[in-house]
Amino acid sequence: MDKIKIIGGKQLNGKIYISGAKNAALPLICASLLTPDTVTLTNMPMLSDIKSLNALLTLLGTQIDEFDDFLDGHPTKTYSYRTQEATSLIAPYDYVRKMRASYYVLGPLLARYGHVELSLPGGCAIGARPMDIHLAALEQMGAKIEIRNGYVIADIDGRLKGADIIFKVASVGATCNILMAAVLAEGVTKIQNAAKEPEIGDLIDLLNDMGAKISGRDTSILTIEGVETLHGATHKVIPDRIEAGSYAVAAAITRGCIELINAQASTLQCPINILRQMGVDVTETENSLIVDARGKTLVGQDIMTDFYPGFPTDLQAQFLALMLTAEGASLITETIWENRFMHVPELMRMGANINIHGHASAIVRHVDKLYGAPVMATDLRASFALILAGLIAEGETIVNRVYHLYRGYEKLAEKLAAVGADIEVIHESDE
Ligand code: UD1
Repeated sequence: MDKIKIIGGKQLNGKIYISGAKNAALPLICASLLTPDTVTLTNMPMLSDIKSLNALLTLLGTQIDEFDDFLDGHPTKTYSYRTQEATSLIAPYDYVRKMRASYYVLGPLLARYGHVELSLPGGCAIGARPMDIHLAALEQMGAKIEIRNGYVIADIDGRLKGADIIFKVASVGATCNILMAAVLAEGVTKIQNAAKEPEIGDLIDLLNDMGAKISGRDTSILTIEGVETLHGATHKVIPDRIEAGSYAVAAAITRGCIELINAQASTLQCPINILRQMGVDVTETENSLIVDARGKTLVGQDIMTDFYPGFPTDLQAQFLALMLTAEGASLITETIWENRFMHVPELMRMGANINIHGHASAIVRHVDKLYGAPVMATDLRASFALILAGLIAEGETIVNRVYHLYRGYEKLAEKLAAVGADIEVIHESDE
């Protein structure tokens, strides 16, 4: 298993190119199941999660072609997806367990074929992660749903029917799944309390380009007028706001200056405000974000995670690490996931001063120094928090279980090394 070795203490300066958004790409890939035509996605990030989902679509009968591409002066990937006719309607446990967003095949397959068998993904390190909102909405649209042997078995006679749906929680996953189901339903579907994350806007753009009729983009009420068929389209994936926010923290925590090329400031307003309140200079340009913390004394801030446009839970671990270097104490409150402070015990092994209160709150107090240590990552974003701590720690930090990072950070070590980090991937075969 690969590890990452970091020698801390380097100020990071330079430019980092922000890749296409993982959480946008995953539902976009599954939207291709809605049509027999080709859907081409450009600016795709090179990540293990994309490979895992591609493997599932290949199993379902999708023809996938991969091309090397060059966008905005940087190498990237383009994938084309063509599902002329699905050869299987079963998403097996071994695939879904590896990558829970595999559940995005549920809406499209049910809408196009009237039957799907999806292994329930189960919980993960950060929480129980139920699917009840997805399933209740599909039932409202006329689907018959049974849970058998760990699988959701969904059936529909004819087409799904439009319905008035009110989500009890503004779930990103349920919004994407129900959008993809409703585009081919008979009649009009209205989703109230829909999630408003930018990745949903990206999915709506692709679906509308494929011939869907969705209105209400960027609002919590989405109206979908069902159509009988959809056609192919070509779509450029939006930049990854979580990757951009993570590298913004890398600049701030090392008191360096990094220009995040292609970062979309409009999707990061809440984290940008926190950085500014801390004392970091953040400049928004037309196609980048410049994060400058050189010579700054930062002041701790309280953060509470929330649905978009609130503070993203996927940046909580990284900002928590940053607060260790800020003056005073910072209260970090997690409201989305019930178990998202797994990075804290590892940070404390490096000398952090953090108190967790219950499951939801952590008080982070300033420390003068962190010390390098071998640490263990438990999930994708927690892993990045450990990388950040390693960047400022005295001596050597080894981050184990790097496969978490491969899920969501394209070329992480290369990108950080290019701005001056002393970072190295130790491959299993090197040991
Ligand atoms: C997505 C993101 C994830 C991010 C999360 C919140 C992807 C692939 N993943 O996850 O990185 O942390 O949004 O921004 O895009 N819930 C229910 N029942 C359901 C579904 C959700 O109770 O049927 C609850 C969850 O337990 C959680 C909250 O709703 O407390 C938000 O979850 P949701 O928005 O669905 O997260 P994901 O789409 O899984």
